[in-house]
This record gives sequence, structure tokens and C-alpha cells, in this order.
Amino acid sequence: MKPFGANLPTDQFSLIRGSVHGGGSVKGGESLIQCNTCHGAHGIVRVKDKRSPVHPLNVVATCAGCHSNPAYMRTYNPSLPVDQREKYRTSVHGEKNASGDAKAAECVSCHGGHEILRAEDVRSSVYPTNVPGTCATCHGNSDYMAEYPIPTDQLETYSGSVHGQALLGKHDLAAPACNDCHGNHAATPPGIESISNVCGTCHALNADLFSKSPHKAAFDEMGLPECETCHGNHGIVAATDQLIGVSEDAVCSQCHAEDLNPAGYQFAMHISSLIDSLETEEARGTALVDDAENKGMEVGDALFRLRDVRQARFETRTIIHSFNQEECTAVFDKGFAAASFVSGEATRAIDEYYFRRIGFGISTVIITILAIALYLTIRRIERRQKEMLHT
Ligand code: HEC
Ligand code: HEC
Ligand code: HEC
Ligand code: HEC
Ligand code: HEC
Ligand code: HEC
Ligand code: HEC
Ligand code: HEC
Repeated sequence: MKPFGANLPTDQFSLIRGSVHGGGSVKGGESLIQCNTCHGAHGIVRVKDKRSPVHPLNVVATCAGCHSNPAYMRTYNPSLPVDQREKYRTSVHGEKNASGDAKAAECVSCHGGHEILRAEDVRSSVYPTNVPGTCATCHGNSDYMAEYPIPTDQLETYSGSVHGQALLGKHDLAAPACNDCHGNHAATPPGIESISNVCGTCHALNADLFSKSPHKAAFDEMGLPECETCHGNHGIVAATDQLIGVSEDAVCSQCHAEDLNPAGYQFAMHISSLIDSLETEEARGTALVDDAENKGMEVGDALFRLRDVRQARFETRTIIHSFNQEECTAVFDKGFAAASFVSGEATRAIDEYYFRRIGFGISTVIITILAIALYLTIRRIERRQKEMLHT
């Protein structure tokens, strides 16, 4: 190929062969996809030419020729959805593409052209751990995105988040990639009212509690996004106790003060002090159990209930989303009850240890006295025997 186009790659055939489209046709003989399926046969033009079937503004129709044809797709893979084009049309990308904007993502920007692989193939550009990089080829490129009014820091911010670290750092596929929150083909920012649904696909309990809480109506009225108002979106970090309370850095202080929505202020102060108390109780219980164990005492029951304290502590972090005093107090009470059992049992074991020590001390003294008495008696008997021998 060199004499004709020095920069033109010549690997198209082998890439297609190795791709998901590389298999044989169900009709037999030829392969499922041909060069001309995508490029046309006689009127082949450069891919940058607007008349090319693989030009960004035409390629959706080219892919959809097969992918939106249920009868055809069924013969190859009945389990594959055939709604990509329909969903894509509702996305921000699809709307821009339909209006003649060739820079918005289309099928090939996310999947590639010749090298397309199955979504579950780890080498695929749309495999979960690769999605952030794929989206960021555009969304992280400030030159490319210059004409659009949106930030280009999503990947950077996401990478530092609890989700990004789990997915990209630990390869934990339970954590969301960009498309888990935005959709694959229907990629749009989740609307204000649907954010808790998006987060709720994974954090179901938090979303359920939130939707029944007094914040639901209050946030809707103020036009505020739900989870995002307190946690953020791309930069979500691990939640800590500092989020709740009445100090300046507590998120509650944005809207609650003694003279502003005061019921929430009282609640935040109360819950924050309950958290402190439960943590103090947990620390006390743990220290007592450790002490008892070091003294060799059996504290299996206390150790077991210590897990209940930790479990309650864990549950309090979730139940907070009810923003309801009674529901929260019930969970804290469970924790306090378990903590008081733990401290009680461990204290009893430690007391018993000292009791045994004192008991051991007393018996040692008695035995020593008895031994001395016995020794003296023997001495006296021996002396008497010697005297009897001399006489
Ligand atoms: C699934 C559809 C599809 C098939 C099948 C296909 N192509 Fe392409 N081809 C594309 C797309 C889309 C582009 C645009 C470049 C890109 O973004 O990958 C392209 C670009 C090209 C280019 C421009 C240079 C390059 O590689 O980017 C050449 C040459 C080419 N294809 C040749 C072939 C040949 C030869 C075959 C058969 C072995 C083939 N194509 C099969 C979709 C396809
Ligand atoms: C000639 C019809 C045809 C054309 C044109 C076509 N595909 Fe496909 N594609 C298929 C078939 C059939 C399969 C299923 C293969 C299988 O499961 O064995 C498939 C599979 C795929 C898959 C893998 C799905 C998965 O995760 O299992 C992706 C992604 C894909 N195609 C994207 C595209 C894109 C993007 C284009 C346009 C550039 C395109 N296809 C053009 C027929 C086509
Ligand atoms: C913004 C990026 C993006 C665009 C644009 C895009 N896709 Fe996808 N596509 C994805 C992601 C991400 C997945 C993987 C979904 C998953 O993990 O289950 C996917 C999955 C697929 C699959 C596997 C089956 C399915 O629906 O999950 C097919 C087939 C497919 N895409 C075809 C297409 C076609 C055809 C187009 C153009 C109309 C297109 N895609 C446009 C990102 C995109
Ligand atoms: C080929 C470049 C490209 C790729 C790849 C791409 N996008 Fe986009 N995306 C754009 C452009 C351009 C816009 C339009 C921006 C605008 O109008 O504000 C856009 C818009 C969006 C929007 C709407 C932003 C808004 O508020 O208007 C979201 C959300 C989005 N993309 C998510 C994604 C996700 C998620 C992926 C990866 C699965 C992805 N994009 C891949 C170019 C791309
Ligand atoms: C945990 C869910 C979540 C993840 C993961 C996520 N986003 Fe978002 N994204 C959101 C929310 C929520 C918004 C804001 C919606 C609003 O307030 O209108 C948003 C907004 C956007 C926007 C609009 C512009 C902006 O920054 O506000 C773009 C573009 C975007 N995200 C792209 C991405 C990309 C690219 C990735 C992956 C690197 C990603 N998102 C990962 C939830 C997520
Ligand atoms: C009014 C503020 C606020 C809102 C709104 C909110 N949260 Fe929270 N969230 C908190 C606080 C405070 C904590 C931390 C409690 C702690 O660590 O003591 C927390 C903790 C969490 C945790 C970690 C604890 C756990 O349950 O695993 C998750 C996950 C979470 N929130 C998800 C969500 C989701 C999903 C939504 C939306 C449905 C949401 N949050 C809405 C304030 C909020
Ligand atoms: C695809 C599933 C998924 C989605 C969607 C999702 N998350 Fe998460 N989230 C996770 C996983 C998994 C973790 C735990 C990551 C780790 O620490 O290893 C997590 C962690 C968190 C944490 C930290 C929990 C802690 O113990 O401190 C918060 C807060 C959180 N997510 C809030 C949200 C919010 C708000 C949204 C919506 C904007 C959301 N998540 C969307 C799966 C998800
Ligand atoms: C974005 C503003 C905003 C943030 C942030 C916020 N709240 Fe609220 N909250 C409100 C509004 C508005 C109401 C409804 C008005 C009212 O009842 O005072 C409300 C109501 C409440 C209520 C119900 C009060 C009642 O009448 O029974 C509680 C409890 C509450 N908030 C606790 C909290 C806690 C705890 C935090 C921090 C983790 C928090 N709020 C963060 C705005 C907010």
C-alpha cells in the first residue's frame, strides 16, 4: 500500500477477522460482514467524505442496518438487544448527531470500526474498566470540547472518587463506570428527579429511605438533585461522620441553623452526639474485652455481641437517610444495648480474674502457714526422738 497512501493502515482485514464481526455468515460460505457492507462497493469514498457510509453522520444508519433488524440479528444472537439506534436517538449524542454535529459520540467513537469486540470482552473499549478512558477521549480533551459549555474534568474527578478508585484501582466491577450513571446508548445526565433512581440501582436502601424522608419533598420544591446535593456526582468520596452535625463543614449547615429550618438543626446535633456516644461505648467495650482476654478470661459472648455493636454502627449510617428521629433512635438503641452487654460481661470477667487472684493469694498464705506448721511439727518430733535415743 505504501506508494498510494503512506499513512493508510493495512490491517483492516485482520482486525475484522479478530472482531466480533469476524465469524462466518449463517448462509454459509462468506463471512458475516464484508468490507463493502460498511464501505459500499462501487462508490467508495474517503471515510472523511460526507458521502461515506462510515462518516460520523452516516455510520449510525450503517450499523443499524443490521443491529436494528430483529429478524436478521435473531439468526446470529437472539439475546442481543436491537434498540441501540432508538436509545441513541434520545441521547445528547444522538440529538447532536441528528442535527449535523459530527463531534458528538456515535457508534464507532465508543466501539471502534474494524476492531469491535463484545461488551464483556476485557479488551473491549466498552468493558467497564475501559469505559472511563473511552468517554474521556472526548470529555477529557479540552481542545476537542472547547466549543461546548461543559467542564472536561469528569474523568479526573471520577478517578479520585470512591467509585473510580474501586473500579479503576481495585477492578471492582460492582462500582459504577460512566455508563452506569449515564446510560450506554441513551447517555444523558440523569435529571434532577432521577438521580436517586440511578444511585438506587446499587444503593437501594439509601434511595428507599430518602424517598420517604422529609427531604424528598423539600428538595423537589427547591429544584435540588437528591443524593448529589450531599454527596456530589463525579467526586463522591467515602461518607464520614463529619458530613452530619452543625459544624461548618457538615453538609447540614448549608441549610439548617438555629434560626433556619431549625428542626433539622436539632436533629443533626442530636444524631451527631449519639454517634459520638456510641463510638465511645464501642471503644470502651473493645478495650474491656481486650483486657479480659489478655488476662486469659473467657469472653466469647461479649466478643460475639461486639459484632452487634459494629453492625448497629454500620446501620446508623444508612438509617440517617430517613431523617426521622424515631427510626434513627431505634437503631442507635440496638447498638447501646449491645455495647452495655459487652461492657458488663467483660467487667464481670475482669472482676472474676481479680477475685481468683485474691483467692489464690489467700490460699497461698494458708498453704505456706500450714507448710511451716508441718515443718515445725516434724522438727519437734525429730528433736523428741533424738532426746529419747540419748536417754
Ligand atoms: C463494521 C463496519 C466496517 C467494516 C466491515 C469495514 N470497515 Fe473499514 N472502516 C469502518 C469505519 C467506521 C472506518 C472509519 C475509521 C474509524 O474510525 O475506524 C473505516 C475506515 C477504513 C479505512 C480508512 C483507514 C482506517 O483504517 O481507518 C480503510 C482503508 C478501510 N476502512 C478499509 C476496510 C477494509 C479493507 C475492510 C474489509 C477487510 C473494511 N474496511 C471493513 C468500518 C468498517
Ligand atoms: C452485517 C451486519 C452488521 C453490521 C453492518 C454491523 N454489525 Fe455489529 N454485529 C452483527 C452481528 C450479527 C453481531 C453478533 C455476533 C455474535 O454475537 O456472534 C454483531 C455484534 C456486535 C457487537 C458485540 C455485541 C456484544 O456485546 O455481544 C457490537 C458492539 C457491534 N456489533 C457493533 C457494531 C457497530 C458499531 C457497527 C457499525 C460500525 C456494526 N456493529 C455493524 C452484525 C452487524
Ligand atoms: C457513548 C458511547 C456509545 C455509543 C455512542 C454507542 N455505544 Fe454501544 N455500547 C456502549 C457501551 C458502554 C456498551 C456496553 C454495555 C454493557 O456493559 O452492558 C454498549 C453495548 C453495545 C452492544 C451490546 C448489546 C447492548 O445493547 O448492550 C451493541 C450491539 C452496541 N453497543 C451497538 C451500538 C450501536 C449500533 C451504536 C450506534 C447506534 C452504539 N452501540 C453506540 C457505548 C456506546
Ligand atoms: C466522540 C467524542 C465523545 C465521546 C467518545 C463521548 N462523548 Fe459524550 N459528548 C460529546 C459531545 C461533543 C457532547 C455535547 C456536549 C454539549 O453539547 O454540551 C457530549 C455530551 C455528553 C453528555 C451530555 C452533557 C450535557 O450536559 O450536555 C453526557 C452525559 C455525555 N456526553 C456522556 C458521555 C459518556 C458517558 C461517554 C462514554 C460512554 C461519552 N459521553 C463519550 C462527545 C463525546
Ligand atoms: C455515580 C454516578 C456518575 C458517574 C460514575 C459518572 N457520572 Fe457524569 N454525572 C453524574 C451526575 C449526577 C451528573 C450531573 C447531573 C446534574 O446535576 O444535572 C453528571 C454530569 C455529567 C456531565 C455533564 C457535565 C458536568 O460535568 O456536569 C458529563 C459530560 C458527564 N457527567 C460525563 C461523565 C463521564 C465521562 C464519566 C466517567 C469518567 C461520568 N460522567 C461518570 C453522575 C455520574
Ligand atoms: C441530606 C444529606 C444527604 C442526602 C440527601 C443523602 N445522603 Fe447519603 N449520607 C449522608 C450522611 C450524613 C452520611 C454519613 C453518615 C455517617 O457516616 O455517619 C451518608 C452516608 C451514605 C452512604 C454510606 C453509608 C451506607 O449507607 O452505606 C451511602 C452509600 C450513601 N450515603 C448514599 C446515598 C444515596 C444513594 C443518596 C440518595 C438516595 C443519599 N446518600 C442522600 C447524607 C446524605
Ligand atoms: C453500579 C453501582 C453503583 C452506582 C450506580 C452508584 N454506586 Fe455508590 N458505590 C458503589 C460501590 C460498589 C461502592 C463501594 C466502593 C468501595 O468502597 O469499594 C460505592 C460507594 C459509595 C459511597 C461511599 C460509601 C461509604 O461506605 O462511605 C457513597 C457515598 C456512594 N457510593 C454514593 C453514591 C451516589 C450518590 C450515587 C449516585 C450519584 C452512587 N453511589 C451510584 C456502587 C454504586
Ligand atoms: C440543601 C438544603 C438542605 C440540606 C443540605 C439538608 N437539609 Fe434538612 N431540610 C431541608 C429543608 C428545606 C427541610 C424542610 C423544612 C423543615 O422541615 O425545616 C429539611 C428538613 C429536615 C428534617 C425534617 C425536619 C422536620 O420538620 O421534621 C430533618 C430531620 C433534616 N432536614 C435533617 C437534616 C440533616 C441531618 C442534614 C445533614 C446531613 C440535612 N438535613 C441537610 C434542607 C436541607
